[in-house]
Amino acid sequence: MTLLRVVGLTKKFGPHAVLRGIDLDVQPGERLAILGASGSGKSTLLRCLNFMEMPDSGTVMLDDKVVGRRESELVRVRQRIGMVFQQFNLFPHMTAIGNVMEGLRTVRRFPKAEARARAGKELARVGLADKAETYPAHLSGGQKQRVAIARALAMDPELLLFDEPTSALDPELVGEVLNVIRALAEEGRTMLLVTHELGFAYHVATRVIFLADGTIHEQGTPDEVLKHPTKERTRAFLARHKEFSL
Ligand SMILES: Nc1ncnc2c1ncn2[C@@H]1O[C@H](COP(=O)(O)OP(=O)(O)O)[C@@H](O)[C@H]1O
Ligand SMILES: [Mg+2]
Repeated sequence: MTLLRVVGLTKKFGPHAVLRGIDLDVQPGERLAILGASGSGKSTLLRCLNFMEMPDSGTVMLDDKVVGRRESELVRVRQRIGMVFQQFNLFPHMTAIGNVMEGLRTVRRFPKAEARARAGKELARVGLADKAETYPAHLSGGQKQRVAIARALAMDPELLLFDEPTSALDPELVGEVLNVIRALAEEGRTMLLVTHELGFAYHVATRVIFLADGTIHEQGTPDEVLKHPTKERTRAFLARHKEFSL
């Protein structure tokens, strides 16, 4: 069964066509790195997959069933597709464990004690058992992002979307977040990862996609796309990321 199938997805903002027909199949266990210049529609694509943005046309299917046609099913879709944002998007008035518990309480209707136990396990998994009662303002960027990952995991998603999860971090904090994502990869989690960490993408992704002009301009294995790109646009993009070492 195809976990995620996207067919002919388009999205405009006013006259600006950001996505012009995206077709994508993702099998369980695949890890897609999504690359593209700033403004190429990477975030818009992820946001359309869990309907934080409404696509103009096209379909999104989970396990071969079309989703997103009815407003009433969107909560369930967002539970199945977890998202981690560049800017963490934690609730500032809740502790770390409060952030992780929130969806368990409001969406999954866990009783409080069970939500707390489950949230504690998720925080331990990302190495933050000792920060459960700390508010986001007193966490480092890397810790905040790990709380956000724990929050996404608590919903038992079938698919994880990461939108530049390390782009807002000081360089010395990037590694701790990439290590958590690497561990999830080793567990066989299915993920779509927008990143400029090309070395990480090379080693962790099973497939690399390069977006340009609102379409998938080139895709293939990390070796194909990152070492032997066939398209000029892909080559030019990689040349601008010279710090990239495999
Ligand atoms: N809510 C919005 N309203 C209007 N324009 C938007 C909105 N979101 C994104 N855009 C525009 O769509 C284009 C793609 O944005 P985005 O998906 O954020 O690109 P990327 O993540 O690849 O940098 C950009 O030109 C951006 O300005
Ligand atoms: Mg973006």
